[in-house]
Amino acid sequence: MSLIKHKLIETNVSLMTVLVLVTVSIGGIVELVPLFTIESTIEEVDGVRPYTPLELAGRNIYIREGCYNCHSQMVRPFRDEVERYGHYSIAAESMYDHPFQWGSKRTGPDLARVGGKYSNDWQVLHLMDPRAVVPESIMPAYPWLADRTIDPSDIADHLTSLTYVGVPYTQEMIAEAQADMKGQADPDGDWDAIQARYPGAVVGDFDGDPARLTEMDALVAYLQMLGTLVDFSQYDADALRQ
Ligand code: HEC
Repeated sequence: MSLIKHKLIETNVSLMTVLVLVTVSIGGIVELVPLFTIESTIEEVDGVRPYTPLELAGRNIYIREGCYNCHSQMVRPFRDEVERYGHYSIAAESMYDHPFQWGSKRTGPDLARVGGKYSNDWQVLHLMDPRAVVPESIMPAYPWLADRTIDPSDIADHLTSLTYVGVPYTQEMIAEAQADMKGQADPDGDWDAIQARYPGAVVGDFDGDPARLTEMDALVAYLQMLGTLVDFSQYDADALRQ
């Protein structure tokens, strides 16, 4: 009996088309409708926080200098990538990136987990003259970063504008933004307060010149925090328990 019905469908193109459309629509609705009921598809993960003012300034320099033309910031979930770079990237790690820096062009290595891989001195030397530390490197040198000081006067506005796209900077963070930006790279800065506002922030003089706040300070502060916020031993244990 059911075979006969099936023959009816398979020999009647119009009926077949209608039934295919009905089936596909049901599948589509089941997949799509739940998404309208939730605000975000990114699960929250412990440790992920907005950038400190200094890291944010460094990120702007990263974009200005076009570092993304040669570097991606997303570890793909493949064994070779995970063995080389560390845990594959998760969505929450770039939830405060506007715009995100995932990329697919890798003239140089992926930088999603470069934070803490090298010392500040190595990073500075490498940016001043990549061949000084990696003789075969083809990366350009960026020596002007150490000369150019940065003016923190507009950083609070920058934090405010990011709140419009959903980055949860608080009034306190915005009010303290200028002081935090200078303080993070200043040995006399209020590091406890900065780390209370931004847990896990790497503090210290980054460019070897504590007297001046340079673009080098900002860029190295940014590089040193990349991929350091999530504790993956905890994250994977939580995932297994679920
Ligand atoms: C023309 C391509 C190119 C551009 C542009 C470029 N890099 Fe690189 N980068 C490389 C290559 C190739 C390497 C690997 C050799 C080396 O370590 O110098 C590298 C290595 C690195 C490393 C070391 C990564 C590791 O895990 O060993 C860091 C950090 C880095 N680049 C940061 C930057 C930053 C920051 C900028 C922008 C200011 C930048 N790069 C711009 C090509 C580039």
